[in-house]
Amino acid sequence: MKNRIEDSHGGIKSNGQNAAETRARELIDLLEARRKLSLEEYAQLVSLYSPEVAAYAAEKAVRARKRVYGNAVFVRGLIEIGNYCKNDCLYCGIRRSNDQCSRYRLSPNQILDCCREGFSLGLRTFVLQGGEDGHFTDEMLCALIRDIKAECPGCAVTLSLGERGGQSFRQLRKAGADRYLLRHETADEAHYRRLHPPEMSFAHRMACLTELKSLGYQTGCGFMVGSPGQTQDTLAQDLKFIEEFQPEMCGIGPFVPHHATPFRNERAGSVEMTCYLLSIVRLISPGVLLPSTTALGTIAPHGREMGILAGANVVMPNLSPASVRKKYELYDNKRSTGEESAQCLAALAAQMQSIGYETVSHRGDVRIEPFSDGEDVLTQRKEEAHGNIQSQIPEGGRVHS
Ligand code: 5AD
Repeated sequence: MKNRIEDSHGGIKSNGQNAAETRARELIDLLEARRKLSLEEYAQLVSLYSPEVAAYAAEKAVRARKRVYGNAVFVRGLIEIGNYCKNDCLYCGIRRSNDQCSRYRLSPNQILDCCREGFSLGLRTFVLQGGEDGHFTDEMLCALIRDIKAECPGCAVTLSLGERGGQSFRQLRKAGADRYLLRHETADEAHYRRLHPPEMSFAHRMACLTELKSLGYQTGCGFMVGSPGQTQDTLAQDLKFIEEFQPEMCGIGPFVPHHATPFRNERAGSVEMTCYLLSIVRLISPGVLLPSTTALGTIAPHGREMGILAGANVVMPNLSPASVRKKYELYDNKRSTGEESAQCLAALAAQMQSIGYETVSHRGDVRIEPFSDGEDVLTQRKEEAHGNIQSQIPEGGRVHS
């Protein structure tokens, strides 16, 4: 039994394992205190994953999230407006060269109907997501955004429609769009090239994110966990990027292979690593809006709950018409039920309640506060003392610009 010691659960651990865990805890403590690490430290933290380390990170992440958002889980109605896409991303089931994909587009009226239904069920954020499709012109989208805002007063509109020009982002913002999700996919340029065809540009994607932020969108980036070619170093770059970019939202889900893509035989990412990274991102940015993604719910029966318990605070049930849900298949077996939206929402609320969380139906804007030597923690404590954290959020936007 040389080099082996008992751990606190009565299991056996080697001294090496124990030292690794101690180092990981040290890094997590450091991250909690400073909200940043060096690239090397992030890589080390990723490589030191173990269930015990992940549990330690999750505990701190949940504490941070509770301090900012209490036990509220924000619900966003997701409407998949179309699956035509001009891009050919190697991982994605709706890539243009997938000729087995049955394509559809929702009309503005269909989209508006989904929002009306969601609104009547209490939802106050609608996420319009779709492939990159010239059919959805700025004119059409601007009119649609205005209609949604008129019919669903007080709601937030989030767009997730890929890369568009600066002019387009500007017009959509002027028409009333509040938030934009554009996952960066990977912050490592060489890895980006492995995941995308040559005509797609890493620089352009990053430029879009910068532009979105400067236009005042609450901006979301994000990446897949376990995508082919991903390493602890590429993940470290993702974490560094998130730390520096300070997104208001961050979408992180496991890569799941799709049978009609070049990555059909690749392995899926793991629930465990995804949850670990959710906790780390929560510690980098306690106020970030962090969805527990559909992909996570797809690869594990209780994936969505596990995401929340790791520090996520957003869920995005599908409001798309049941007839098209199966067609928006980014990856195999994407979780989609034939349930009506009302049933979905009720089930979701029950799921969240079972783990001690409460789904809430207001806009759920971000609460990102600048980090300045604990001052923001003080602000949060003050707000906690006031009891109602949400009443402190100015309608329509971020706490600071
Ligand atoms: N597995 C998991 N996520 C995927 N996405 C696309 N394809 C897959 C896949 N095979 C994610 C991408 C994209 C988002 C809309 O869905 O990160 O940005």
